Amino acid sequence: MRAIKIIICFIVLQASAQQGGMWIPSLLEGMNEDEMRSLGSKLTAKDIYDVNNSSLKDAIGHFNGGCTSEVISDKGLVLTNHHCGFGQIQSHSSLENDYLKDGFWAMSLEEELPNEGLFIEFIVSIHDITDAVLKGVDDSMTEKEKQSLITKNSNAVMASWSKEEWQDVKTKSFYKGNQYFLFVTERFEDIRLVGAPPSSIGKFGSDTDNWVFPRHTGDFSMFRIYADANNRPAKYSKDNKPYKPKHFLPVSLDGVEEGDFTMVFGFPGRTNEYLPAVAIEHITKEFNPTNIAIREAALKVIDAKMKASDEVRIKYASKQARIANAWKKWIGENLGIEKSDAVEKRRAFEAIFTKALKEKNLEDKYGNILSEFDKLYKDFAPVNIKRRNFIEVFLVTNELMQMTFRAYQVEQALLENPELLDKAKASLTSRFKGIHKNYDKDLDKGVYLSVMPLYGKPLDASIYEKTAFTNLDSALQLLEGDVKTIIKNLNKDAAYVYAKPIIDEFYNKIDAEYQQKNTAISALQTKYMTALMKALPNERYFPDANSTLRVTYGQVRGYSPRDAVYYNPVSYLDGVIEKYVPGDYEFDVPQKLRDLYNTKDYGQYADKNGKVPVCFLGTNHTTGGNSGSPAIDAEGNLVGLNFDRVWEGTMSDMNYDPEICRNIMVDLRYVLFIVDKYAGAKHLIDEMKLVHPKK
Ligand code: ARG
Ligand code: GLU
Repeated sequence: MRAIKIIICFIVLQASAQQGGMWIPSLLEGMNEDEMRSLGSKLTAKDIYDVNNSSLKDAIGHFNGGCTSEVISDKGLVLTNHHCGFGQIQSHSSLENDYLKDGFWAMSLEEELPNEGLFIEFIVSIHDITDAVLKGVDDSMTEKEKQSLITKNSNAVMASWSKEEWQDVKTKSFYKGNQYFLFVTERFEDIRLVGAPPSSIGKFGSDTDNWVFPRHTGDFSMFRIYADANNRPAKYSKDNKPYKPKHFLPVSLDGVEEGDFTMVFGFPGRTNEYLPAVAIEHITKEFNPTNIAIREAALKVIDAKMKASDEVRIKYASKQARIANAWKKWIGENLGIEKSDAVEKRRAFEAIFTKALKEKNLEDKYGNILSEFDKLYKDFAPVNIKRRNFIEVFLVTNELMQMTFRAYQVEQALLENPELLDKAKASLTSRFKGIHKNYDKDLDKGVYLSVMPLYGKPLDASIYEKTAFTNLDSALQLLEGDVKTIIKNLNKDAAYVYAKPIIDEFYNKIDAEYQQKNTAISALQTKYMTALMKALPNERYFPDANSTLRVTYGQVRGYSPRDAVYYNPVSYLDGVIEKYVPGDYEFDVPQKLRDLYNTKDYGQYADKNGKVPVCFLGTNHTTGGNSGSPAIDAEGNLVGLNFDRVWEGTMSDMNYDPEICRNIMVDLRYVLFIVDKYAGAKHLIDEMKLVHPKK
């Protein structure tokens, strides 16, 4: 009898243990806390977020605005992904000191490398300010009026918020403008590079393995936060001291196994979980394919040039990775949406929504939302595609066009207000320098020739021979003299003359039309969100990601991407060796790592089965921005480092499906193994707090 009771209780708990969702850390009490517990967590909401005491959130930093990082020692040592620190690692690299290729390890504090512009931001506290922000906003207002009142209100709240002088505040909209929160933050700006494995570990498998499992990438790098004499944020100074955090994560040496609870704590960037079926259809059938094609054309050129020259390889490493990453993601997203029948399922859900509207007498108010979406998306689709294609060509792939685009913006600004001259010059100078730091004219010309036709504009290859933009000195000369001279010179440049009418068309026609139509869609999406929560109040709603701190949780689980194929949730060093291709740019393995494998010199970092775990899968609902996020075990220890998702599962940005959506994490024991045994940086391990929660 007792056994039966236990079994029944177990089944109920399993069923209630829903997954998916990115939750606001200050609102976990109740539903989320219960769900987490039923998945195996021993943490309380207060362990995760507490304003008065130190809590897990104090160890989680927004890394340079785009990734996540976590503090792992009481001396401000920070862990994030290799691909998040990639730009910094690259910027310290040269042909002589190729840290991308060989890795880098500071053997003392003195050897740690400062990084201009890099910052890590912590969340001090989170406050619901919805009432103050929406004060006076009503349905009689136009979208524009609403938005300007909301901006005014939220600026007023920020201005009067009491905070310490070294802190900042910002506000963000949630649930499509149905709720607003204020964040008090602390931003540290003296962040030094401590260590990075060679790319053959940190980026092992490169593009071939990106977004897929089985995965064997040691995608990590280490930094250190420095603070002033009072342990507060400060600009770089050699007198700064390692930061003493309010909390740092202990590291578990016991790892995880299938079914174990994990929670991922970080700064997911953007999701779109409440789209109507018609939007998902548009994105996957029309929008993605055109952008995939543009990136594919660019990558063909870039990849060939990088293979042919080491110099080009170093220069373009970062740019190539950025272009290839979303390219492959969109392909996987399409696959997943198709495979999981997401559009049909969303339609079925919409039928339930429509029925609920009827039952609750909400038809008058919300009954036309779905048909309105159909109409708006049909009208929106062509311009949405055109605009994004422009961005892909002018801002993502073709650098000469990017320079003309920035110059165009400056010309427009100067025509409107000549007083902006100094500012405009400075910003354009830094743009040009940024591009030319890693520029190859030949490569860029090849990209131009292959992407521009996909935007439907005639080619003129001769601009590459005539323009001043492709050389930094001559490009900067374009910015000399007064406003009139600059404008005159720009308009004499062959590339500028070529690009200007295309950019004109973009601003005056394409983007203008896009903005207008997109505003209407966003307003309808806001209304839809409100209607969903009223018609189906018992569903679980989490706000779409918006680059604010979120908690997502789940369990370690494998998955089946295709019939008869099942992926185990854990990969091992053995798999690195299986994939080894000597000299290959993606799958080479350093001699030292092969030696460690051959002698089984694993120290304390092997699993119970004697093997070194490398990566593992979980059902945590993550997205871009969660890179570098800690995977935390049931007791609050660090067990993994999030860095990717499985290919078919990347659709979770629109459609989380617990069957196939998995996030990919590096096992922390692999990180420690590489730091200790491969790099010989034992002093870093000694700084950490290693624990054995399972013993
Ligand atoms: N796909 C991961 C993310 O979206 C990792 C990207 C870096 N790795 C790479 N091979 N490009 O950011
Ligand atoms: N690699 C991604 C990032 O840079 C995280 C993976 C994802 O999109 O899930 O944030």
